[in-house]
Amino acid sequence: NEEIGRRIKNTHQLKLPPDKVGSSHRTLNRNRTTRIKLDRSSLDFVPMCEVTGREAVSAITRAQSQKCKERIVNVTCLNQQNLLYPTKLQSSCPHSLGFVGTPTSLGCYKDDKISRLLPSYYAIFKSNNSPELCASVCLQSGFPFAGVEYSVECFCGKAEPQKISQLPDSSCDMKCPGNLKQSCGGYLTMNVFSTGIKSTVIDHIITLLSRNSSVKSVEEPPVRVAYLLTVNGRASRQVKRLISILYDPSHLFYIHVDARQDYMYRELLEVEKKCENKNVIVAKGTSLRHASIWGGASLLTTFLTSARQMLLHSSHWDFLVNLSESDYPIKTNVQLVEFLTANRGMNFVKSHGREVQRFLTKQGLDKTFVECEARMWRVGDRKLPRGIQIDGGSDWVALSRDFIEYVTDPHPDELVDGLLRIFRYTLLPAESFFHTVLRNSRFCDTYIDNNLHVTNWKRKLGCKCQYKAVVDWCGCSPNDFKVEDLSRIKNAAEKNLFFARKFEPIIDQRIIDAVENWLYPEMANSSNALMNIRGQDSYWQSLYHHKDSSPSVDDALLTVSDSLARLAYRRFGELDISKKAQLLEATSYFRENRFTGILVRAALHRFSMESSTLMADVPEHLEIFIQMRRNFSTSKSWLGKILSLSVNTDYDQKEQTFRNFLGSIGPLSNPVLTYEFDAAIVLPLNLSILWVDPLNRLADASFLQVDESTLMGYMKLELNEPLVAGVWHLYVVFEEKLIAKLNFLVVPLTYWQNRRISEEKSREINHNTQRIYHVNSDVARRWHNFLKPYALPEHPVNLESMQSKLVQDLEYWIDNLVTSRYNIGEVCDASSMGRRRKTSNANLKLLQRCVDTDWSSLSPDPKSDFRTLCHNRKES
Ligand code: UDX
Repeated sequence: NEEIGRRIKNTHQLKLPPDKVGSSHRTLNRNRTTRIKLDRSSLDFVPMCEVTGREAVSAITRAQSQKCKERIVNVTCLNQQNLLYPTKLQSSCPHSLGFVGTPTSLGCYKDDKISRLLPSYYAIFKSNNSPELCASVCLQSGFPFAGVEYSVECFCGKAEPQKISQLPDSSCDMKCPGNLKQSCGGYLTMNVFSTGIKSTVIDHIITLLSRNSSVKSVEEPPVRVAYLLTVNGRASRQVKRLISILYDPSHLFYIHVDARQDYMYRELLEVEKKCENKNVIVAKGTSLRHASIWGGASLLTTFLTSARQMLLHSSHWDFLVNLSESDYPIKTNVQLVEFLTANRGMNFVKSHGREVQRFLTKQGLDKTFVECEARMWRVGDRKLPRGIQIDGGSDWVALSRDFIEYVTDPHPDELVDGLLRIFRYTLLPAESFFHTVLRNSRFCDTYIDNNLHVTNWKRKLGCKCQYKAVVDWCGCSPNDFKVEDLSRIKNAAEKNLFFARKFEPIIDQRIIDAVENWLYPEMANSSNALMNIRGQDSYWQSLYHHKDSSPSVDDALLTVSDSLARLAYRRFGELDISKKAQLLEATSYFRENRFTGILVRAALHRFSMESSTLMADVPEHLEIFIQMRRNFSTSKSWLGKILSLSVNTDYDQKEQTFRNFLGSIGPLSNPVLTYEFDAAIVLPLNLSILWVDPLNRLADASFLQVDESTLMGYMKLELNEPLVAGVWHLYVVFEEKLIAKLNFLVVPLTYWQNRRISEEKSREINHNTQRIYHVNSDVARRWHNFLKPYALPEHPVNLESMQSKLVQDLEYWIDNLVTSRYNIGEVCDASSMGRRRKTSNANLKLLQRCVDTDWSSLSPDPKSDFRTLCHNRKES
């Protein structure tokens, strides 16, 4: 296994640039077809075949559990024997549109609404209430462009269009039976041989259709929308804000929370309870909740099981629109409903717009993936069935009820059944499944190449193989919008686009406010008036909640938060009280669009309340406001030239920010240094970065070159063993002079895998003072003298005493370290009754109720408030 692992690791990785639409770009292993034998001794089952493919062997070797290994073996064997997938599927698309090359589309959905989507090889025109429009197009004897073959078919009727004419000899108008005239439409097919011709042809069609713009449509009842929200993470207040802005009593909201996200689930169950209309439903139970990993086959399972529930729940909705926690509308509810009403029965998906084979390979559609252990394992090549057109792009869609009924039918036809078998083993399945079914089914003519979304793709930032931990593939993600993107969003909204992604208030809440104020100016006016109201320009996001059993929390975060809970109570009395403090919640707090601090909510253990009279005055629940102490300084001549310098964990390369807001670094963390230099510095700049451990030993010395393209960047500390606990120092050296220094805390852990750490584990993790750093001896000598004036004398810490601290009073040691790094600011009374106290304790006298503060997680947050949540927005 080691040998296989080593060889796989050494395989040269070739990265291709990512695709235009779609969330992945592939990493190709050269020699991936090489045959390797699986080492059967690591398996406790007999494989059903000889697994030889290099990718499958690698996956089986890396998988941890026998169950997962067996699943990978079974799928691989079935694939090797050509038993896994259908070899041929039949398209049942009634209109063979005969596209040549890459089709793109143009749609005209209503006589007075011409939508121009992308340059097109075909056009679907449909006018539910305008036979004249059909006639006008159908009667055209042709488009006078060289290089274009065209034909037009007209149909009447909605559910099963009846083909009634073939150009040039007839028109819809003439042939539509009276009762069907109301829903006349047509299909224009063009085979474009010359690429230069496309826009002219489209312009011609647009002109043609525009002529009919005076035809008034008969009022149709407005459609009802069923939103499928698939959400993950802890941004529950943003999800509530999203529901609030989308809310309409006639819509349905079905929410799927990733099965591993306890906090989000609990928060949204509360919303479900509070919405009296009963139109907000949260998926419950193991059969309806899935651990929907990024890019996983489970995302399609989630979609389909949720859609089935949505059909069962209500027979009234017309369109299913799926959204995530990071989507937000860019048009009002009225505009969306109007648009969808004019396009009843259509299906909105976004196609990749590229050469099909290129899309297939980049998207990994020619590979089999197996999902287990919350990971997508790549197990080898596969052949897609003949006879159908594979299509895909984005997995954000708006699908008609008819189509949803078709794809979720418990007795699917051969096409859907065959495609479901394929997509069970497909990466990012929802990016291709619906497109492919649409292209090859009787719904083919309802395909509109528009997913109603504008997506903030910045491939250079978003394609960093950041999902390596969950998929054997390099995935891409769009960036978050920021307030400077508002005009771009407004421009997008001029097209038939209704949603944008991604938005995260922890990155930029002001853009969300700006979009909302632009969409609902009357709300803006009132919220301007309310701007001074508490909570309007704040945001809170949970980091930890004591009721969560999943996902597991970082032990360093738990250790530091726990210490802060103790420190909060220490304000009110002796050490004794603080020892009985229990951590309830940790929350990151943002104000005026910036991270401002951490809030820790704590309680006294019930038994201590009962047993001690001393504590009678002390509130049962407290919340404290914590800020980080400044920990970096620059030499005088570099003031203003180094804009930031920070060491932390969970660096997000896409958003170029740390996501560990508490800044808790433990012995097992992987610290990253980020820096930003002012553009005015003389470039290139050659720097040395010295990492010095709490015992003043040089742990690492690295070289950093800053040039125009890397004024802002990051660098990892590459050490394999646990970090020595205590205060670390980082020195930035330029031309043998110290220009900046920074210290950071590596906190010893009181928790190990979310449980109290055992003495034995604590010795192993927290007491790692004997470790040896492999710094090149010349480098070490060079820096030894340099560091002398800055660092304390060598080995100042008495190892004996350090060890005894670890055993005897680990918490005391941690609390001291935490106090040196964090500043405890205000404290409020979070007790449910939060009473005014008669007390002699000065600290207690000043204690405000948390609900009365403007910073507490219990203070008002009008944006995400329950009371305003399930109410209709008024539009001017
Ligand atoms: C991009 C594309 O926009 C999307 O089309 C594709 O499916 C994934 O890649 P990205 O921003 O990377 O999106 O993904 P993200 O929005 O974070 O996640 C996609 C969906 O999966 C969301 O609904 C999210 O809630 C859900 N998800 C993600 C989970 O349920 N669990 C997870 O662990 C991760």
